[in-house]
Amino acid sequence: MEDTLTKTNTITQEIIAGMKNTPKQLPSKYFYDEKGSQLFDEITELEEYYPTRTERMILEYYLDEMAEKLGDNIELIEPGSGSSEKTRILLDKMDSIRCYVPIDISGDYLFKVADQLQKEYPNIDIEPLEADYTRPFELPNTHPNARRIVFFPGSTIGNFKLNTVQRFFSVIADIVGKQGGVLIGVDLKKDINILEAAYNDSKGITAAFNKNMLVHLNRKIDANFDPDLFEHKALWVEEKGCIEMRLYATKSHSVQINGQVFQIEEGEYLHTENSHKYTQEEFSGIVAPWFEVEQVWTDKNELFSVQYLVPRV
Ligand code: TRP
Repeated sequence: MEDTLTKTNTITQEIIAGMKNTPKQLPSKYFYDEKGSQLFDEITELEEYYPTRTERMILEYYLDEMAEKLGDNIELIEPGSGSSEKTRILLDKMDSIRCYVPIDISGDYLFKVADQLQKEYPNIDIEPLEADYTRPFELPNTHPNARRIVFFPGSTIGNFKLNTVQRFFSVIADIVGKQGGVLIGVDLKKDINILEAAYNDSKGITAAFNKNMLVHLNRKIDANFDPDLFEHKALWVEEKGCIEMRLYATKSHSVQINGQVFQIEEGEYLHTENSHKYTQEEFSGIVAPWFEVEQVWTDKNELFSVQYLVPRV
């Protein structure tokens, strides 16, 4: 009870701090309640949303080349594994994978997925780890001689702020050691129209996903956001090199959070998410303190990339 209360207070403080920002800001982790996860799955299947489909295609097409790069006797580690759906492409075909460590912050779902995987892949040791992977974490030491490969698909790296990206790569560099590697999905810079369409789909699923955060927050803390008073818009911000997801107020109104009143003007927006896109040079530069980009696989239109990074010695 105490614990739940403290947690609620922490979230309330976090939301209030974001609402005091200019522009007002809500943390993207609150996208994901059950409804949010379901809407996100729908996003990945949208015609306009090219990343998921393209990344899958690259993984399937270049699997043999990737297997060769990754080498033998692998412990595959996946931060933020969720449903482990894309990982199955690797688990199905790479017999060099001895052990798979899915890592997720929400244990219930993680352990369920892990049980299922263990049944389907009896030859791979499935070792789920409940952890926040943006902070240093300990891996089970069950395969001390295996090469550690971190798999980080979905261009999730693009949703992090620069300091989080840097912390992530320094944590990962420690985890994989000098012998390991990283297989990572990175979304690339491209025509703005393609980018904006991907996050403003014609069926309005991304809009529903974005607004669902407000419903989720109303349930989670003492808040009364009215999702009907907001309009979703995602737009390319050139200076930041990212798509910003925003919720624009369609009229002036106020929101109460834990007794505090926040005035929102018509046309003002709440900022909910960033999705950075990189050129190859930019991405190589970001990882350079820890890793060297050894190989890049892309689709023929160069929409998306899967990259193999090796530690700098
Ligand atoms: N990393 C993916 C992307 O930025 C998936 C994603 C994260 C996403 N948050 C999102 C997609 C919000 C749409 C909306 O594209």
